[in-house]
Amino acid sequence: MHNIIHSIGAACRHRAYKLLKSFGSNFSNDFVVKSNPEPTNLAFTGYRLHLHTDLTYYQQEPGIQILHCIQKSEYGGISEFADGFKVAYDLQKEDPETFDTLSTVALSFVNHGLHKSSKADYVLCDWKPIIRLNQEGEIQKIAFNNTTRGAWMSVGPDKIKTIYRAIKIFNSALTKKENLISFALQQGEAACLNNTRVLHGRSAFTVPPGCQTPRHLQGMYIDWDEIYSRMRGITAKLK
Ligand SMILES: [Fe+2]
Repeated sequence: MHNIIHSIGAACRHRAYKLLKSFGSNFSNDFVVKSNPEPTNLAFTGYRLHLHTDLTYYQQEPGIQILHCIQKSEYGGISEFADGFKVAYDLQKEDPETFDTLSTVALSFVNHGLHKSSKADYVLCDWKPIIRLNQEGEIQKIAFNNTTRGAWMSVGPDKIKTIYRAIKIFNSALTKKENLISFALQQGEAACLNNTRVLHGRSAFTVPPGCQTPRHLQGMYIDWDEIYSRMRGITAKLK
């Protein structure tokens, strides 16, 4: 999406929030992605974020994520995207053993902290394989975030090396030249992505002392239910 209003949160609120009910998460209904001197999450630092999907520790992750660029950085922060389905299909064909491990072994994903407004604590946790298949054995969802991956795995010690090897192969495949798209979001642009298929990340960035225009993205999540609901409503009106 291009040429969206440049003010704080405007895109989220005008283009999506007013039309669609956002997915309320531990990051609230919409959230600011900025480097923060007291970060509560790696996203709120200037460190590199490796490719991941969001909220893997929820039983039902949000289907869509919108990342709206309010302020571009001149000091890094290049956005990265990779199609997890494409990587999974390639593995299914070329390395079925790894595909089998990634689609059958459930990993734990966890996040705990304090809600920003209420200060109530949260301890979110879910178990799932990185590649989820439907009943027909078709690829349905990707869930991968190495920074929220818990220490627990659903198998015994004899399988640990196999799992780590599979994770490493998956992670390396994401960053292969043919699978990775990277570009700087410009002010007023918003990336809208399928959070259970497309992985996103960013290069590291810095905020020099005295910088008045630090990198600033505004984010929000939406469930597919809300999208399909809206589509049905519009279709019904057009008939
Ligand atoms: Fe993210």
